[in-house]
Amino acid sequence: MNSSPEIKPSSRPLSALDVINTRCSVRRYTPAKLDRATVQALLDAAVRAPTAIHAEPWAFAVVRDMKLLRQISDVAKDIVVKKGLQEPNDTSRLLEMVRQPEFNIFYDASSLIVICGNLASPFAVADCWLAAENLMLAACALGLGTCVIGFAVDALNTPELKTRLGIPAEMTAVAPIIVGVPADATAASPRKPAQVLAWK
Ligand SMILES: Cc1cc2nc3c(=O)[nH]c(=O)nc-3n(C[C@H](O)[C@H](O)[C@H](O)COP(=O)(O)O)c2cc1C
Repeated sequence: MNSSPEIKPSSRPLSALDVINTRCSVRRYTPAKLDRATVQALLDAAVRAPTAIHAEPWAFAVVRDMKLLRQISDVAKDIVVKKGLQEPNDTSRLLEMVRQPEFNIFYDASSLIVICGNLASPFAVADCWLAAENLMLAACALGLGTCVIGFAVDALNTPELKTRLGIPAEMTAVAPIIVGVPADATAASPRKPAQVLAWK
């Protein structure tokens, strides 16, 4: 963090289960920037994920430029609106939101980490999502908020944005994750109990 008054060490270290049970999608952020060491710590956690045939098919694009984040958001919104125009009766909440000019799909978070994968590797998509969960849990352990922004995937895979973000042609943006300092506390959302199909 450039200034990290909001990041307070917990009174006791969180266990892995504490982190899993408290992680939640954060959609309100302060303008505080993450410093390089913090982002690097998240990337180091991401690459500890399991990876099929030890391929490690991932690479990461880090975007901290707020103007560029806004531009990516606008491209993503345009794509959704164009898709919506093909289905004129679509009145989904998403379409309503993207029609608002001020809506930022990245919720003004100070960083976006795009996990990219070389999909020539057989389980690259799974590997990228496992890396994403590691990254989000590590961020939660550090008192940071995260949210997957699936909404950005199509925009991030346009040739223009791939070039701008240094994503090589053979790689695909798989998991865009925003990271920042939460503006306030968010409670974890409920889940149904695990449905057990067999316990033999
Ligand atoms: C693949 C994927 C894509 C998602 N895309 C978005 C998104 O574009 N915008 C958003 O606000 N949340 C997005 N989310 C977050 C989900 O809405 C959120 O994980 C879900 O509501 C459960 O809430 P929780 O993460 O707080 O437990 C996405 C989550 C996943 C797994």
